[in-house]
Amino acid sequence: MGFNVEDIRAQFPILSRKINDKPLAYLDNAASAQKPLAVINALKDQMGTSFANVHRGLHTMANETTEAYEGARTKVAKFLGAPKPDNIVFTRGATEALNLAAYGLAHTIEAGDEIILSQMEHHSNIVPWHFLRERKGAVLKFVPVLDNGELDLDALKSMLSSKTKIVSLVHMSNVLGTINPIADIAPWVKAVGAVFVVDGTQAAVHMPINVVDLGVDFFCMTGHKLYGPTGIGALYGNAEMLEILLPFNGGGEMIEDVFESHVTYNDPPHKFEAGTPPILEAIGLGAAIDWYSQFDPKDVHQHEMAVYYHALDGLRDINSFKLIGDAPNKGSVLSFNLEGAHAHDVAQILDKYGIAVRAGQHCTQPLMTRLGIHSTARASFGIYNTLDEAERLVAGVKKAAHFLS
Ligand SMILES: Cc1ncc(COP(=O)(O)O)c(C=O)c1O
Repeated sequence: MGFNVEDIRAQFPILSRKINDKPLAYLDNAASAQKPLAVINALKDQMGTSFANVHRGLHTMANETTEAYEGARTKVAKFLGAPKPDNIVFTRGATEALNLAAYGLAHTIEAGDEIILSQMEHHSNIVPWHFLRERKGAVLKFVPVLDNGELDLDALKSMLSSKTKIVSLVHMSNVLGTINPIADIAPWVKAVGAVFVVDGTQAAVHMPINVVDLGVDFFCMTGHKLYGPTGIGALYGNAEMLEILLPFNGGGEMIEDVFESHVTYNDPPHKFEAGTPPILEAIGLGAAIDWYSQFDPKDVHQHEMAVYYHALDGLRDINSFKLIGDAPNKGSVLSFNLEGAHAHDVAQILDKYGIAVRAGQHCTQPLMTRLGIHSTARASFGIYNTLDEAERLVAGVKKAAHFLS
C-alpha cells in the first residue's frame, strides 16, 4: 500500500477527539468527511494574508484572490479529467449542481418527454426532475434495483427510446455502495440522443474520474465529502451542453451587458456563477484536491475496502445482521439492519462507544420503498479509517444486538 494510515490520521486534528470518553471512530464519511490540516491551513492563509472579491478589482489582493479561485477551477477540471477549466461551474454543492442541470435543461423538455432516473438515486437527483415533471409535463421513469443492489441494466436498456430526453444516474450509491457502469451506459444513452447527467458525489471520493472517458454530458461532485469545505461543489458540463444550458441565478458577473430592454450573458462557466461566489470554499476545495491527489486512488480504494471487508466479516457473525447492498462492484459503504431493532437505536448505542455512523433513509426514500425497509444504519469508510475501528464497530454492533433483541 502506498500510504501509512497513521501518518494520514495525524493530519486530521479532529480524529484525536474523544466522544463519550472513548476515542472517536468516525465512520460517517458518506455524509461528510473530516478536514486535513492542509485544507484548514489553506483557508486560514487565504483569509489571513490575501482576500478580496474576485474578478472585479484591479488591486493586488483582488488579483491574487482571483488567481487562487480560478486556480481551484483548474484543479477541479484536472481532477475530473475535464478538457478545460471552463467546463467546470462552481456550485454550492452537488445538490445545487443537479438543480442547475435540471433547471437549465428545462427549455429542451416538452410534455410527454421522458427522463430516466433509478430507484437508487439520492433525493437531490430526484426532486429537481420532479420540478420538470410539474412544470413541463415530463414523465419520470425509474430503473429498478435488483435484490443485491445492482442496477437492472436490461431494464434500463429496454426503457430507453426516442422519447428519452435525459438520463440522470448516480455513479456510486450512498446507501448500497453500488458502483454503476457509467462508461458502458453512456453509449446506450447517446444512441437515443438523450443527455446523460451523472451524480458523481460519492464516486469522486472513491475512484479516479475521467468525465471524457466516461462519456457523460454532465457530472457533479461536492467538496465536503472530498475532505474539503462545505458550501462548494462543481458541475462539469461538456462545451456543447454548457452552451445549451440556461442559468438559474441572475445577477452580477454572469452577464455581458444589461439594458432596460434585455440582457446578454457572459460565457460559461461565469454565466452560471451569479454574484459573489463561494471564494474561500472553492480555494479550500482546491487545497483538498491537492492534498488528496498525492495518493493513488487505487491504493485508497484498496485500503477502504480492506476496512470494509474486515468490518463485514465480523458483522456477519451476528445472527440478526442483514447487509443492505451486496453488488459485486461496490465502494466502502456498509449499510445494514439488525432484525427487530431500529437503525436509530443502533446508531445511538454506537455513539456511546465513540463510533459515529448514520441512521435513517439517507435521502433515498424510493430506494427504501423498493427494499421494503424504513431505514438503515450506515458505516462509511474513508482514507483515515483503520482495521481497529472496523473491529470496534463490530464489537459495538454486537452490544447493540444484545441490548436490542
Ligand atoms: C449520492 C449523493 N448525491 C447527492 C448528494 C448531495 O450532496 P450535497 O449535500 O453535498 O449537495 C449526496 C449527499 O449525501 C449523495 O450522497
